[in-house]
Amino acid sequence: MWKIPMIIVNFKLYRQSSGINAPLLLDIIQKVREERGVEIVAALNSMDLTALHEKYNVPMILQHVDAVDFGAHTGKLNLVVAKERGAEGLLINHSERRLTIADIDILISQARKMNMVSVVCANNPRVSGALAFLAPDFIAMEPPELIGGDISVSKARPETITETIEAVKSVRDISVLVGAGIKNREDVKRAIELGAQGVLIASGVVKAKDPYGALNDLVEGMI
Ligand code: G3P
Repeated sequence: MWKIPMIIVNFKLYRQSSGINAPLLLDIIQKVREERGVEIVAALNSMDLTALHEKYNVPMILQHVDAVDFGAHTGKLNLVVAKERGAEGLLINHSERRLTIADIDILISQARKMNMVSVVCANNPRVSGALAFLAPDFIAMEPPELIGGDISVSKARPETITETIEAVKSVRDISVLVGAGIKNREDVKRAIELGAQGVLIASGVVKAKDPYGALNDLVEGMI
């Protein structure tokens, strides 16, 4: 399992972080991870992860996997193939890829059996508390209205961080990550002070003019 506190960089499908550009961002993540000795995990699409996981010393997870067995499923991907192709874990139920509660349950259980890390996303404290009953490894709370914006969850909705941690910990001791609009060391520091074990971030790194500088600045908030 990964070190805590940690940063997950979600590459999404931004031009700057996908296809031929994915290695550029992975080079930066690997450099910062090694120079600063902190945990940084990359969430990639399945094609980029397959092509790149052996070339980097960076834990890689998938942004989405389907809750299906082998069979007649066109265009789907299951956890067995994900593991065989190098994924250490997966994001489940991201706001941009919502799933049913039944599928979330299947994916968490399969991941546990296969020793893969499950990071389940939730849109608010109540949903975070409900998902804690399914016992994922991490719960990542992101208010959807702040995703991709300039104001972070730490600044705009700090109470949701505290409430999420209370809701989750009242069910079981699961690590909580928070995300949406995270941009700098103050955002990370505040999230950790409020009890989070790390952050989930995309645009603040991927779309930064200087991703290396942006990532280093975020790390300052962790140490
Ligand atoms: O998965 C992380 C993400 O949804 C947050 O996006 O761009 O607000 O950091 P962003």
